[in-house]
Amino acid sequence: MKKDLSDYRKSYTKSALLESEVSDNPMELFQKWFYEIEKSGTTDEPNAMTISTLGLDGYPKGRVVLLKRYTYEGFIFYSNYRSEKGKAIDEDPRVCLSFFWPGMERQVIVKGEAEKISGNMSDGYFESRPTGSKLGAIVSNQSEVIPSREILEDQLEELEKEYDGKEIPRPDYWGGYLVRPVSIEFWQGRPNRLHDRLRYTLLEDYNWKIERLAP
Ligand SMILES: Cc1cc2nc3c(=O)[nH]c(=O)nc-3n(C[C@H](O)[C@H](O)[C@H](O)COP(=O)(O)O)c2cc1C
Repeated sequence: MKKDLSDYRKSYTKSALLESEVSDNPMELFQKWFYEIEKSGTTDEPNAMTISTLGLDGYPKGRVVLLKRYTYEGFIFYSNYRSEKGKAIDEDPRVCLSFFWPGMERQVIVKGEAEKISGNMSDGYFESRPTGSKLGAIVSNQSEVIPSREILEDQLEELEKEYDGKEIPRPDYWGGYLVRPVSIEFWQGRPNRLHDRLRYTLLEDYNWKIERLAP
């Protein structure tokens, strides 16, 4: 049955976000929220995030990638350096990461600058991937136009033979990015659309300013 979209109405009641309860460092709050999402079991891939870049064609573009690590320095994900997002980041490293965790009625929005991580670190992660994912990274010229799916499957088959029993090296066009945040906004759904929004902004002395935003 078709539903009128304006009938989708939800009251957000699961939690609250108060200045008195948050850490001075946003990565600690991110960690707390991430653990809570994992523990709640409400999200299949809590590490799925949308990364938006400023495209070479002048349009912003968002797409989902998987967060693989976070530290006080920032957020790490892996991709093809020659992909559309890779080229966009080469040109302008300013990106936005966003997470939506409906199970806990939460959103996190990060603005920051992306930089390539060291080859050694990317090697370490590449090494940990299953064989199929390693070969997939080699086969796919991510974001290029291709004539058919068969081409990919044929190339994968060839590589499977070529690397049978051998170590698969990480291609130099594939690796990690670290996004160093300059601002992180935490959004917690609340009743009557009076949601909680706290924004951390990085100051020159590496401390963070915390401000409440109107919902
Ligand atoms: C759940 C999910 C996880 C994904 N994880 C990644 C990832 O970690 N790295 C990646 O390069 N692409 C990932 N993708 C594919 C990207 O969304 C995107 O199609 C690809 O990176 C090419 O984007 P681009 O052409 O804008 O560079 C994922 C897609 C989904 C839906």
